Amino acid sequence: MIKLFKTNEEYFNWHEKNQQKTIGFAPTMGNIHNAHLSLLEQALIENEVGIISIYVNPTQFGEGEDFDAYPRTLSDDIEKIKTLESKYNKDIIIYAPRETDIYPQGFTNYLKAHQIAADLEGDLRPTHFDGVVTVVARLFEIIKPHKSYFGKKDYQQLKLIELMAREHYPQVEVKGMPIIREPNGLAMSSRNNYLSPAQKDEALALRNSLLAVSKEIEKGASINEIKELIQNLKTDKKLNYLDLKSAIDFSPLNEIKKPIVILGNYQIGSTRLLDNVEVL
Ligand code: PAF
Repeated sequence: MIKLFKTNEEYFNWHEKNQQKTIGFAPTMGNIHNAHLSLLEQALIENEVGIISIYVNPTQFGEGEDFDAYPRTLSDDIEKIKTLESKYNKDIIIYAPRETDIYPQGFTNYLKAHQIAADLEGDLRPTHFDGVVTVVARLFEIIKPHKSYFGKKDYQQLKLIELMAREHYPQVEVKGMPIIREPNGLAMSSRNNYLSPAQKDEALALRNSLLAVSKEIEKGASINEIKELIQNLKTDKKLNYLDLKSAIDFSPLNEIKKPIVILGNYQIGSTRLLDNVEVL
């Protein structure tokens, strides 16, 4: 059965009566697409109840970013979530709270993201990850999940949430889920809605660059050869960054030591798109 809760009170009432149930949680900002549904599906597979939150979090948007334009499509989202109801025959909760439920004290980032937030996305968006870890912490506090599911498309976010959870919510298991792609290979994202079909094809340059780097790593290239390749690929000025990190702790690499994640950010007009490839 699907339940829609728009306030904490409604959720707390349900939770009180269902304390014994295992909860799998997929936090989202709505505008649901197949990648979000894959998180909720995994939550339903591994737990007795699947909860999906829909909340466009103002504190993770910087000045001049797309907070106002961010698509808010609750009734369509509910329809898409309903498609999972009969497949799993389990309770699904949609938690779509008010701002006062999440931020009763006003909009403050009361947590600071770990220092691996400083480069890549954090360099482009300096306050972004403080907002992300704050809202996810707040959601964990309210929902009290056993497991929580995040897409690997936002790899740096996933690592930061793992670190935040380890410190503040060690009882919540944070799980990274595979990137879901559009038929042409573009990583699914609500921001793809901002792109024309031609721009979606153009955005594939990011994936191709990531794959070029991973192919060379697989072939045994040295760190210097990889750095040189990255420098060459970066002549594409639409690449905001292209870099590789340890997939374990996101530290920079002085040598090729797997598991590695290669990450990039690509600029199409005012839209910034993320993607990455793991080399395990
Ligand atoms: O990845 C997202 O959609 C958001 O950053 C999250 C984790 C739901 C926090 O607002």
